[in-house]
This record gives sequence, C-alpha cells and structure tokens, in this order.
Amino acid sequence: MSQVVRYLTGITTTGTPHLGNYVGAIRPTVQASRLAGTENFYFLADYHALIKCDEPARIQRSTLEIAACWLACGLDWEKVFFYRQSDIPEIPELTWLLTCVTGKGVLNRAHAYKAQVDKNNAAGVDVDTDVTAGLFMYPVLMGADILMFKAHRVPVGRDQIQHIEMARDMAQSFNHLYGEHLVLPEAQVDESVALLPGLDGRKMSKSYDNVIGLFAPREQVRKQIFSIVTDSRAPGEPKEVEGSALFQIYQAFAAPQETEKLRQAYAEGISWAAAKQVLFERIDREIAPMRERYEHLVSHPAELEEILQAGAAKARTRATPLMRELRQAVGLRNLATAAGAAKKDKAKAALPSFKQYREADGLFYFKFVDAQGKLLLQSAGFGSPKEAGQFIAALKQAQALPDGDRALPAEGVSGEQVRAALKALAESGN
Ligand code: TRP
Repeated sequence: MSQVVRYLTGITTTGTPHLGNYVGAIRPTVQASRLAGTENFYFLADYHALIKCDEPARIQRSTLEIAACWLACGLDWEKVFFYRQSDIPEIPELTWLLTCVTGKGVLNRAHAYKAQVDKNNAAGVDVDTDVTAGLFMYPVLMGADILMFKAHRVPVGRDQIQHIEMARDMAQSFNHLYGEHLVLPEAQVDESVALLPGLDGRKMSKSYDNVIGLFAPREQVRKQIFSIVTDSRAPGEPKEVEGSALFQIYQAFAAPQETEKLRQAYAEGISWAAAKQVLFERIDREIAPMRERYEHLVSHPAELEEILQAGAAKARTRATPLMRELRQAVGLRNLATAAGAAKKDKAKAALPSFKQYREADGLFYFKFVDAQGKLLLQSAGFGSPKEAGQFIAALKQAQALPDGDRALPAEGVSGEQVRAALKALAESGN
C-alpha cells in the first residue's frame, strides 16, 4: 500500500514576487503539486509577515499579489490546500502547545534571532535591541504551520533548514510527552532548481534591489531587462556565456535547443541589445498568458477572497480534528471525561520510549528510557536524524525477530544494551 506524501510550504506576505521567486519556487512547486500520490499545502504566511512588517496596507497588498501570482502561475486551488495562515485559528492555538515543549535555549540558537543579537553585540548596544518576542518565537509559529498538517516534506531554501529541524524537535518532544500525535517533517532543498541572477549579476533578491518583477507591466519588464549589466564588448565581438547574467536568465526559461542557439549567437558576436531583445521575448512568451489572469485577479479581489475562504475551510477539515485530538492529549478536556482519561494516561506513561535529540557536537543521538526515566539504551552519535531514526526502526524490527535472525547495526552500542532494550521493548508491546 503506498502512502500519500504531504508537502507543505509557506510564503511570507511582505513583497511582490519577482522572476527569481518564479523560477526558484513558484514554477517548480506548481509542477510538483500535480504529482500523483501527494497532498500539497501552500499558504500565505501573513502572521509571519507581521514579524517583519508593520505597514497594514503593505501586508494586505502583498497577500493579494502573492495569492494572485500563485493562481495565475497555474496552482490548482481545488486540488491543493491553498489558504491564508491567519484564517486557521488552530495554528496560533498549536503554537502555544508547542511553545510549552520548546526549550528557550533552542530558540536562542535560531539564526535570524542570533544574527540580530550578534549585530547588537557588535554595535555595543543592549542585546535585546530591536528583538521582538515575535522574532524570537518565529520558529515555533513555523513549527505549528508544519505540524498542523502532518507534513512529511517541506520544500525550502537552505536558510530555512534549521527551522524545519526545530519543528522536528518540537514534534518529537510533544510525542514523547503526550504520545504519537505529530509527524516528524523533513526539509527538502532542491539543488537542481536554478538560482537566478539579478540585474547586477548577484543573486536576484529584493534586498539587493536587482529584481525583475514577475507580473510588472510589460514595458517595465522590458526596461528592466535592458538594464541588465553586461561587459563592454561591441556588436560583432564574440561574447562569453560564462558569467553572463543575461545568458543564465535566458537558460532558466529556454529549452535546451534555444539555449544552444543563443550560445552560438554569443560566439558569433550578437550585440547586447539584440541579446536583450531575445531574452525579453522569451520571458514574455512564458509570462504574458499568465499576466492576464494575474491582472484579472488583482482587480477582482473578492474572487480571490472567496478562493482563500474555500481554502481555509478545506484546510480546517484537517486542522480542527487534529487540534481537538491534541487538546485532549495535553489535558485541555471536558471535565466530565476526566476520570476515565486519567487511567489511560497512566497506562501510556508506563511504557518505555525512545527520545531523539541533538547534542552540542552537532550529532544526532537517541536514548531509550523506561517509564521511570531509567536509561536503557544510549546511542552513539549519528550524522543525521534520519540515520538515528533508522537505527530505532531496526531495533523495533529486530525485537520482532527470533534471536538467531537479529542483525543490528550495532556501532557504538553494546550488545548488552541492545539486549536490555529489546527485552524492554518486547515487554512494552511497543
Ligand atoms: N519562514 C519561511 C520563509 O521565510 C516562510 C514560512 C512560514 C514557511 N511558515 C512556513 C515555510 C512553513 C515552510 C513551512 O521563507
């Protein structure tokens, strides 16, 4: 039986999408969302936007533009889960439950927070300058986004990997305390996706002010493309494709034969103006048909609002029951059920369990502790949470095998420890 794989990713609603976002995130994500055997959750992270932006009009406008972009680029909102974070009240609710199982020390290490602290230290000002509790709590809100929908994979950029690992830790802590309710997510960083250079040749990014707007008016796109920095070679002189931002951008849109043709033209001395015209036409060919839908949606916000409301209702068919389950698990319960539930908690608490964690050496460990917290098995360090998880899975499997058939990857773990753990596992019926 094949299992559905759930993908989830959020887009912070502070800007307007540019071609770099399109090539690096929107286009591959829309394509991936059509794969069979997957469920896809895409949402507008407007609560996250509040951490960075205190301009209400900008938040609203950006939400409108980003939602319109994704739909214009072909996201099938009836097939996927497409919603606005702030329409799902279960998300802030789960944020609090996770807050209560997340070590403050873990959050101290979050890159974005730490960067601000380091900056303050370097400037000789108070460490907390410009640090809101929102910035500090950013990873917990993000953890709730992910765990709320039991996502397996979270496609993100490199800079977000740490957040996904934190979400994983939160799920683990929660499950350890309250039973297996949450799914452990994994970051998915796609190395093959093109990193688009911007007008000045550095990575296209709003913070470098070198972007080409995705759905900017056609004439503006043309102007921007004509402002791409090139070298001073005259028409007729052969040109290098290596290090040419113009060529790299073209490559991200063109088919391999088209790219070959432009490479040839470079060698034959095409003028920069002519090359820019070729690039403009190629981009326009891909974007123009979508621009129409984009402009329609942006000028009919009520239509968009309806789509987002439908998306929220659909997303809540998952969030509401899970939140109900989690409230029950932690003890936020109808009092009339109290007596019976307490007995069940006790039965569960009497089982030994695995706990995975990361040490200061950067390696991943697990231990197996009995109900009283006595250590039954301490692993050596693993390179990734996945390897540690595989070892645990192997242990659980070995437990089900007759003695002679047990082959365990026993590196760093003594045979005696493994035997004790297997015995405890067998007794727990785990
Ligand atoms: N922090 C992400 C970013 O800045 C946006 C985001 C919010 C997100 N919640 C998420 C991404 C959940 C993936 C999953 O890019």
